[in-house]
Amino acid sequence: MSNPILSPRLMARIAVSLLFAAAAGQGLAAQAEAEAKRILQPDPATIATMTHEVKSYGKTKDGQEVKVHTLTNLKGMRVRLIDYGATLIGVETPDKSGKAANITLGFPALDGYLQRHPYFGSTVGRYGNRIAGGKFTLDGKTYTLAKNNGPNHLHGGLKGFDAVLWKAEPVSTQEMVGVKFRYTSADGEEGYPGKLDVTVTYTLNNANELRIDYTAATDKLTVVNLTNHSYWNLAGAGSGDILKHELTLSADKYLPIDDTSIPTGAPADVKGTPFDFTSPHAIGERIGELKKDPHKTKGYDHCYVLRGQQGNLELAARVKDPSTGRVMEVFTTEPGVQLYCGNFLGGGAGEGGFKQHEGFCLETQHYPDSPNKPEFPSTVLRPGQVLKSTTMHRFSVEK
Ligand code: GLA
Repeated sequence: MSNPILSPRLMARIAVSLLFAAAAGQGLAAQAEAEAKRILQPDPATIATMTHEVKSYGKTKDGQEVKVHTLTNLKGMRVRLIDYGATLIGVETPDKSGKAANITLGFPALDGYLQRHPYFGSTVGRYGNRIAGGKFTLDGKTYTLAKNNGPNHLHGGLKGFDAVLWKAEPVSTQEMVGVKFRYTSADGEEGYPGKLDVTVTYTLNNANELRIDYTAATDKLTVVNLTNHSYWNLAGAGSGDILKHELTLSADKYLPIDDTSIPTGAPADVKGTPFDFTSPHAIGERIGELKKDPHKTKGYDHCYVLRGQQGNLELAARVKDPSTGRVMEVFTTEPGVQLYCGNFLGGGAGEGGFKQHEGFCLETQHYPDSPNKPEFPSTVLRPGQVLKSTTMHRFSVEK
């Protein structure tokens, strides 16, 4: 199906012509017919438009159809999304010589996404990242969640928002093409209280901006932390590691973690540490230091405290791949961003064959374990409130 982004306007024009015809008799009816013909043969300027195509992408294990949505703009960008997990499965952008490549990690077909996978392009919820011990207390009541990451709860549990079928509708205008995904998470799903109505809207415009808007509303006190878990490789997915990508983060502080990746408490200064990306540094430049004492991690997998976040859409990160000139800037209304560098990718079939550090994630979000850390910005959502969150990726090239 081609998205009828011009249709409402054109249909209005036809309707107006027909109304005139009805009012003024035959002569104007002929005029209406001529107008309708003109619309069937639009001039080239109206043919060249952004498009949204929908096709079948296969079926879930219980026989439900999954659709793939392809958004195309006039500046060489193509974005592909599927209803399963409201997942971003492809982003094609041109490099400095105009050559397009897919720059986000994924699978070639639906079966890859139906298995447990490393959250390639997934919408993550109800709570993105970890909740210590899989437990939190709200209004004196303790809730127990699945421990699916060592002793902790991760990314919404055993069947998070990445592993459910969302309902899609087109939301295009003259300025952008997009898809709105909706999902209702039942009260008690994965152990979380409250029925939660969630929307995730992806839109693409001709400024090569891919925007993700989230909303959520609940009927009981609950916790929510929504993010997108795309893995990026600006040189092209499958072209090797991302260690030479140059990263800048709008963050003077990060959250130190314990050996189960739970923030230990107060933010620490990045200055003088391998966590400092306040000026551009190759991701691989100091990653070796993180693999040794005292950090002993497999690389960056830390939440950064974004500078001056007051809920406005502000620059969080800028990444440049020097080999292709591709640049991605990430803007967000969220207070944090989890920098994860594909540390656990092992090249297996369930990981699309991608190996360690072949992609990086910038998961814009509230901080991990906020439900157990009253000093962190709150992730509590109350009935009557509407959670709103936006993250925008702007793609460009620099020669
Ligand atoms: C997040 C976590 C990582 C890892 C990935 C998924 O980024 O912080 O530790 O679990 O998701 O593999």
